[in-house]
Amino acid sequence: MTLPPFPQTRLRRLRRTPALRAMVRESALSPADFIWPIFVMEGTDREEAVASMPGVVRRTVDRVGAAAREAWDLGIPAICIFPYTGMDARTEDCALAWSRDNIANRAIREIKDACPEIAVMTDIALDPYNINGHDGFVENGAIVNDRTVEALVKMALVQAECGADILGPSDMMDGRIGAIRGALEEAGHSHVTILSYTAKYASAFYGPFRDAVGASSALTGDKNTYQMDPANSDEAMRLVERDLSEGADMVMVKPGMPYLDIVGRVKREFGVPTFAYQVSGEYAMMQAAAQNGWLDGDKVMLESLMCFKRAGCDGVLTYFAPAAARLLNG
Ligand code: PBG
Repeated sequence: MTLPPFPQTRLRRLRRTPALRAMVRESALSPADFIWPIFVMEGTDREEAVASMPGVVRRTVDRVGAAAREAWDLGIPAICIFPYTGMDARTEDCALAWSRDNIANRAIREIKDACPEIAVMTDIALDPYNINGHDGFVENGAIVNDRTVEALVKMALVQAECGADILGPSDMMDGRIGAIRGALEEAGHSHVTILSYTAKYASAFYGPFRDAVGASSALTGDKNTYQMDPANSDEAMRLVERDLSEGADMVMVKPGMPYLDIVGRVKREFGVPTFAYQVSGEYAMMQAAAQNGWLDGDKVMLESLMCFKRAGCDGVLTYFAPAAARLLNG
């Protein structure tokens, strides 16, 4: 459409007062848009700061129930569990990954006991349990696909048995969504949803997360043979189509802020539930600048989250979830 010329058109008219701006605001942000990623660790009744993520802690499994309750009371509908694992928990066969009693699976049960209403999301990838920090098995220096998928299926089934509502395959192996969906159906978990890390890029913005989960020192090499090339956009569309066809209920773009063009394309081209992950490095940049007095922390937090909504996200995984929810709730 062509706008009538000035002065018939004065776009500032609708920006003059808060009331007028509220009337024409195109996107809205609420605590219901958030998925809160948390880090869990062994031990009892303890928390530990994550140095590279100011304001984020690792908490022992017995404390995750209270965290979930707090989140739910703030209006946050989902919480996502990431385990911190030391070198002693890591092996070449990654067997701890599908143990009912690893900390991630204990955390699922703890949350389901303490706050059954909240949706519990998991991470499916071998990296917390792998001696070399990779998301898949390594054979002769290569990350092997099909044998990894078999292990991911075992992880998925145990997580579903423990009560997970949303499974989050973050490994980027080919064929994992179909294999997991098939196994869930066969095992009677037909109600369990999959939020696929569909367009997950090989990104340097994951640095602080790898500190938080203890992967930084374990990881050898990079993840470029399975995570996406940051230069690619069409490939992300092929991945979305593939994951949907294999049985994903929801798709994710990761990282978030530098990849909102991908979010916009996914939402426009597919119209499916679309999420993005505002990752650790994005969080750390904003917190570091705020701590230095270079940015207004609260304002950039809310602005950045609103931008996810404007770009087309149905929701966003963010470490800011409780702080942002508190502000939004007044
Ligand atoms: C690992 C995983 C990563 C993140 C979530 N799951 C890191 C990686 O792929 O190395 C990153 C999250 C963040 O940076 O906040 N499967």
